[in-house]
Amino acid sequence: MNIMNVDYSTKIPNNVNLSEDRQVLKALEGWHPGYIDWWHDMGPDGFQQSLVYLRTAYSVDPRGWAKFDYVKMPDYRWGILLAPQEENRTIPFGERYGEPAWQEVPGEHRAMLRRLIVIQGDTEPASVEQQRHLGKTAPSLYDLRNLFQVNVEEGRHLWAMVYLLQKYFGRDGREEADELLRRRSGDADSPRMLGAFNEATPDWLSFFMFTYFTDRDGKMQLHSLAQSGFDPLSRTCRFMLTEEAHHMFVGETGITRVVQRTVDAMREAGIDDPTDIAKVRALGVIDLPTIQKKLNLHYSLSLDLFGSEVSTNAANAFNAGIKGRYRETQIEDDHRLQSDTYPVLKLVNGEIKRVDEPALTALNMRLRDDYTQDCVKGLLRWNKVISSAGYGYKLTLPNVAFHRAIGEFKDVHATPDGVLIDDATWNKRKGEWIPSTADGDFIASLMTPVTEAGEFAPWISPPKVGIDNKPGDFEYVKIET
Ligand SMILES: [Fe+2]
Ligand SMILES: [Fe+2]
Repeated sequence: MNIMNVDYSTKIPNNVNLSEDRQVLKALEGWHPGYIDWWHDMGPDGFQQSLVYLRTAYSVDPRGWAKFDYVKMPDYRWGILLAPQEENRTIPFGERYGEPAWQEVPGEHRAMLRRLIVIQGDTEPASVEQQRHLGKTAPSLYDLRNLFQVNVEEGRHLWAMVYLLQKYFGRDGREEADELLRRRSGDADSPRMLGAFNEATPDWLSFFMFTYFTDRDGKMQLHSLAQSGFDPLSRTCRFMLTEEAHHMFVGETGITRVVQRTVDAMREAGIDDPTDIAKVRALGVIDLPTIQKKLNLHYSLSLDLFGSEVSTNAANAFNAGIKGRYRETQIEDDHRLQSDTYPVLKLVNGEIKRVDEPALTALNMRLRDDYTQDCVKGLLRWNKVISSAGYGYKLTLPNVAFHRAIGEFKDVHATPDGVLIDDATWNKRKGEWIPSTADGDFIASLMTPVTEAGEFAPWISPPKVGIDNKPGDFEYVKIET
């Protein structure tokens, strides 16, 4: 078969020749009903009978891989799609650098590999669970469609990880695949594995922040796993990245549109001071300081996803050839890092200082730095919107010591500028930096759904272009209740 094209003749669309891999096909078919049950229980609340204008992958050729059509979400064809195998691919880093990439799981790294796949897999359904109520308050059909596109693709990413578990990890893999459907975001007894994936996504500004900042952590993790010496993992992640780009687009343009609407409304009303919160809110738009607070929250929660700055697990995964660096193959060094160092931000005698650590144990810090650089691009765009409207206000990323639950700074409090403060000051002032209940209530008060084609809620601007180049009044979701 042509690896580029997806086989839709089996129940589970795929480009991995499942029709000749009976055992794995059977295992996946056995898992399928549980997945559909999960989708009905924990997927988007409502809209399951609505026709949604969704893209579905028909190929893994980056030049043309998706087609758009109206689909009811439960009928979406979740499939197994791997990027084409690169001929003679070698392990691009670690102690086995230069050796042929593995097509089967190397026995000595089985547990580590399984754990990484399970952690990645766990985030995918978690975000669907976190976002399940948002359909009810979508600011437009365009946004509603984007939410559902993200949701079905996160569902597919779960399939991607479950395929690896069932194909390569035997009985343990099947058990892990079942567990992925059992855990629930925010559940007291069986929560999802990572902190940020147990937080609420209560409103659409949170959704945009989540897709901008938290999906971007996903991008960084997928990039490092795409370097893996375990070739099936690498190929899976490479294709997931193609889809993931849209999720971050939704976040970036979503925040841009919120900021745009706010500054437009301020200008029309003749408001000069963007920090005059009461006046701005009276216009029915979200004031910039509150947007900054949401940004502080989601960025800091996402930084926690990178784990401890100094980590022997990260070093082991690199040495083993399992998880590489961001754009590993484009880095010019020996790809072994045995005697290199990397500067790590640490708490030294009550001060935040850069300290050189062995590069191998500092890999989480390095990936996090790459992430921060990637995050900055959006801020430049948003600040451009603000300055073009004639305002001096600037959105900024908070200091890495701010509001952390994992790593070097988890036991201290810091302001967004990185000034260390005591507990009492934090408790007194945190409402200035992360959204308070009152902020949440205000945003919630704006979240009234708009379901008329071409109409948008008054707190957000329309997008510049439609999805699949559709015109502004296109009916992206045909709502059926
Ligand atoms: Fe994903
Ligand atoms: Fe995503």
